[in-house]
Amino acid sequence: MKDKMTWEETIEFIRTKPEFAVLVDKAYFDADLPVNVEKFKQSEEFVEILALIKQYAPNAKTLLDIGSGNGISSISFAINAYEVDTVEPDSSETIGAGAIRKLKNYYKLDNIKIYEAFAEEIKFPDNSFDIVFARQCMHHAYDLNKFVAESSRVLKPGGLFMTVRDHVIYNETDKKWFLDNHPLQKFYGGENAFTNNEYTNAINKAGLDLKLTLKHFDSVINFFPLTSAEKKIKEKEFELLVQSIAQKKIGLLYKLSFVKTIVDKIVKSKLNNPFNEESIPGRMYTYLAIKK
Ligand SMILES: C[S@@+](CC[C@H](N)C(=O)[O-])C[C@H]1O[C@@H](n2cnc3c(N)ncnc32)[C@H](O)[C@@H]1O
Repeated sequence: MKDKMTWEETIEFIRTKPEFAVLVDKAYFDADLPVNVEKFKQSEEFVEILALIKQYAPNAKTLLDIGSGNGISSISFAINAYEVDTVEPDSSETIGAGAIRKLKNYYKLDNIKIYEAFAEEIKFPDNSFDIVFARQCMHHAYDLNKFVAESSRVLKPGGLFMTVRDHVIYNETDKKWFLDNHPLQKFYGGENAFTNNEYTNAINKAGLDLKLTLKHFDSVINFFPLTSAEKKIKEKEFELLVQSIAQKKIGLLYKLSFVKTIVDKIVKSKLNNPFNEESIPGRMYTYLAIKK
């Protein structure tokens, strides 16, 4: 018996297990492929991705989506009128290139082409695309520098390289903590993560000018499935908790605003702040860079 499942086997397995129902829903792993697309294209995350693209690449028409999995982003971009090429090394009909082909037919799209390849081995000519996009994929690179260099090579000068939701680790101990906590790692063993330095060095070396790094709590793109509204409520709850502890500690003095500021700060530093990205194993970052 194999000790690990493939990615496809893992997803098919968790679809049958009620304890993974929330993950299947939030990670867009439904067996009914259009259900995933419909949810993703209306998500706060995708709305924010489109807004950033409009800001950094307002005239873009052609887009390469790398490691597109079951096609949620590729199909959503195509529905939004981009000319999409998509590369996905996994041929699976439920979680890979085969799934994207089914969705292309389902949505009757003629503006999407599907290829099976690793990012490090894409065959497109130099300067082909206005945008190279990758969601939750760059951290799977088997050669990070090559992954980014190839993405840069196929981008037109001035084009946008946008990677979203890549796992960031601080060091090897932190990486182990991330892998030990990943819900699917024990089944398929294919998870990975790099440090912020490794990502940014790869971006710089590839002739890309890094314009924006969004850390985990900077954008709903990264902190989804938490919504912006839920995040606001949780922030308020944390603020109120800090204030009630601080007030109990110093009583009436808490009415003095400069004292309040200092004591709040001390109490906050002693509590487990849920919005400290260090408390999230493999917290996610988004990078936007322009080809020089
Ligand atoms: C976590 S999934 C993300 C899929 C999709 N982008 C999404 O957001 O739903 C990572 C995908 O990257 C693909 N992948 C792994 N290594 C890759 C590489 N070196 N180049 C391109 N894609 C890769 C996997 O086959 C998988 O479909």
